[in-house]
Amino acid sequence: MEVLEAIRTRRSIRKYKSKPVEEKTLATVLEAARQAPSWANTQCWRFVVVRDGAIKSKLSNTPNETNPARDAVCNAPLVIVACAEMGKSGHKDGEPVTDKGDWFMFDVALAMQNLVLAAHSLGLGTVYVGRFDAGEVGRILSLPQGYCAVAMTPLGYPDETKEPRPRKELDEIVHYDKWGPK
Ligand SMILES: Cc1cc2nc3c(=O)[nH]c(=O)nc-3n(C[C@H](O)[C@H](O)[C@H](O)COP(=O)(O)O)c2cc1C
Repeated sequence: MEVLEAIRTRRSIRKYKSKPVEEKTLATVLEAARQAPSWANTQCWRFVVVRDGAIKSKLSNTPNETNPARDAVCNAPLVIVACAEMGKSGHKDGEPVTDKGDWFMFDVALAMQNLVLAAHSLGLGTVYVGRFDAGEVGRILSLPQGYCAVAMTPLGYPDETKEPRPRKELDEIVHYDKWGPK
């Protein structure tokens, strides 16, 4: 699938078929994440691929009960948890070099967006899950000190079709030369 087509047609998928994801397909999706750019090429991202049903079930309890992606974390054939090594992105000699502190969220997002677009181009569904108890996810996955869980996505073949969600028009979000009234 051509990249603009993938960007245009990707949707958040919250219902999945039980059909497993082939190893080769998973490797292609992870490779897309690996190729993402990052701050000074620091590559702070790490990915935990969870296939174990008991661990998926524990992960699915970390978003609160109203999170619409909760069941998908349990039911999809696998879940990818994107984690970050902290204190690397946006840092030099251990110190942040901008007023924004640690850039790990930015770098992990770039890798995840590569991953979800690659997944979509291969016929797989994903949904970003950001609202969960990250400390609890860290404990479930035995993340070492200095790493945190940033986001997760179920990965599998979609069992639903979704209409596009609305987006702001370009003239609501773009300014030319200077920020100013339209
Ligand atoms: C950073 C981030 C966190 C998100 N967290 C959740 C979440 O916890 N649960 C959920 O169901 N969807 C979550 N979403 C999915 C958004 O709701 C979804 O992307 C948005 O409504 C647009 O729909 P679309 O992805 O189909 O275009 C998240 C998306 C992003 C980018």
